[in-house]
Amino acid sequence: MQLIKTKDKLEGSKKGLEIIEKAIRNGEVKTLGLATGSTPELFYAEFIKSDVDTSDVTTVNLDEYVGLAADDPNSYHYYMNDLLFSKRQFKESFLPNGEATDAEAECAHYEEILNTHPVDIQILGIGTNGHIGFNEPGTSFDSLTHKVLLTESTREANKVHFEKEEDVPTHAYSMGIKSIMNAKKIILFAFGKSKAEAIKETINGSVDVNCPASVLQNHPDVTIIVDEEAASLL
Ligand code: GLP
Repeated sequence: MQLIKTKDKLEGSKKGLEIIEKAIRNGEVKTLGLATGSTPELFYAEFIKSDVDTSDVTTVNLDEYVGLAADDPNSYHYYMNDLLFSKRQFKESFLPNGEATDAEAECAHYEEILNTHPVDIQILGIGTNGHIGFNEPGTSFDSLTHKVLLTESTREANKVHFEKEEDVPTHAYSMGIKSIMNAKKIILFAFGKSKAEAIKETINGSVDVNCPASVLQNHPDVTIIVDEEAASLL
């Protein structure tokens, strides 16, 4: 694992973009794995200013809430369109379909997409409980794309984006831990004090399903980009 400590979220986002831009310019990125949440917002704001050509790059996203339509302002489809896809051209972009009613078929279909488009670089955020994607503590390291029951702490953390707590979906479709680990390279961003404990466990803790991100210790090419606060317990 490579650790890059930066002053703040902006510096960290720029650092991550630098690595990705270079890889795209070198023709090393056919497929880019993307994440949502507040963590990568500045990264996308910087990305749309870049002159790097992404018209030949396919994107795949980690997850989507079950039950939300693509045009629902709280869906991850909407988030991605709003922050990135409406402003920058990609070859194709995939996210799980939140409206799919046959969960098993949707998850199998998404795994097929990932098999056809192996991820060259995957971007990750991290939950305060160490989750990656929506893989909550206890999720098997062998998991592929699956339907997840969100924990109360995750629903609580994500409720800031919703009008009422009851509006926060109870389930999501998420790439599994194995699906994430299949990426050739992984860049995890963590900013702010609330992520310090999860970052400590991820880097210094044992590799354990109770901290899903700790599995990254087993990956050959992981870069963790943190700000001072997220690094404060290291
Ligand atoms: C969400 C997302 C994750 C994200 C994490 C952290 O639940 N599914 O992909 O990395 O939680 O969110 P945030 O960046 O808003 O802190």
